Amino acid sequence: MLRPIQGIFQAAEYPNLLVGLDEPDDAAVWQLDDERAIVITTDFFTPVVDDPYDYGAIAAANSLSDVYAMGGKPFLALNIAALPPDLPAQILTEILRGGAEKAHEAGVVIAGGHTIQDKEPKYGLVAVGFVHPKRFFRKGGARPGDLLILTKPLGFGTTTTALKREVAKEEDVAEAVQWMKRLNRWASEIALQVGVNAATDITGYSLLGHAWEIASLSHVGLHFHWEAIPFTAGAKSYAEQFIFPGGAFDNRLYFQDHVRFDPKLSEAEKMLLFDPQTSGGLLFALDPQQQQAFEQAAENVHQPYWVIGEVTSGGVIEVN
Ligand code: CO
Ligand code: CO
Repeated sequence: MLRPIQGIFQAAEYPNLLVGLDEPDDAAVWQLDDERAIVITTDFFTPVVDDPYDYGAIAAANSLSDVYAMGGKPFLALNIAALPPDLPAQILTEILRGGAEKAHEAGVVIAGGHTIQDKEPKYGLVAVGFVHPKRFFRKGGARPGDLLILTKPLGFGTTTTALKREVAKEEDVAEAVQWMKRLNRWASEIALQVGVNAATDITGYSLLGHAWEIASLSHVGLHFHWEAIPFTAGAKSYAEQFIFPGGAFDNRLYFQDHVRFDPKLSEAEKMLLFDPQTSGGLLFALDPQQQQAFEQAAENVHQPYWVIGEVTSGGVIEVN
C-alpha cells in the first residue's frame, strides 16, 4: 500500500526515523535524544460487535496494541471517527466513552481528534508512546531456538462473523469480547522487563500472516505445535461450519505457500490459523534461558500466555 510513496521519502534523509521507511513493523519510531524515542501508529475499523461501548473499547485497545508491540508506553491519543449522520447520539456517545475509558485504563489521554460523516461507522485512535531508542521490539530479531509465546487465544474473527450471521452463542461472543478489550500493556511490560528477541501483535493478517512477517524479517523458520495453540471456546465449532470473515481467505491465499501443515489437520483447523484477529495478543520470540523469568513476571501481573512453538533455522512455517 505504501508503494506509491516509496522514493519520495529517502531513509537517509530522516536519520531520526528509526522505524518506518525500510522494513515494515507495527509502528513508526522517531528518536528524540539518546534516551527517548516516540512510537506513533493509527488504526480504525468498522464495528466488530453489536454493543457500541464494547466496540469503542476494542477499537482503542487495538489501536494502542501496535505501541505495545514495539515495547512502547502510550501516553497520548486522538480519536478518529466516521459516523452516519442518523446515528442516535446515545450510540455515538457510547462508542467514544468505550474508547476513552479504555485509553484512561492504559494511562493514555485522548486530547481531541476528528470526526466526519460516513455511511458505515468507523472508529479508532492515533496513538503516541515513548520507548527507549535502543530497547524497542522489532519483528526481525527472532533466533533459532527461541520460544514462540502468544498472549491471547485465537478465534475472534470466526466468532464475530458468527455473531454477524446471528448463529453465535452469547457466551462465546462475551468471551471473545473480553479478550479483545484486554490491553496488551502487561504482556508488553513483561517482555520489556525480561527482554524478547522479536515481537508483534496478532491482528488482521492472522497468526500465520504475522508469524510470517517475523520469519521473513528474522530470516528464520517457525514451528508451531497445533495442540499448544489456544482458541476461544466457540472458535472450533464456528470454524467447522466454515464461518470466517473474507480476510481469512485472503490470508490463506497470501501466506499458505510459506506454511507446511501436518496432513492430519482439517481445512477448518488450518483456516483458524488464517483467521484475522481484532485486538489479538502479542507474539514473542523469547530466548529459552529467559523462560523462567518470563513466567515469574507474567505471574506477578496475572498475564496469561501460551508457549506455542519455537523458532527454527528453516525458512518455512511448520504446523504439526
Ligand atoms: Co501490529
Ligand atoms: Co495496526
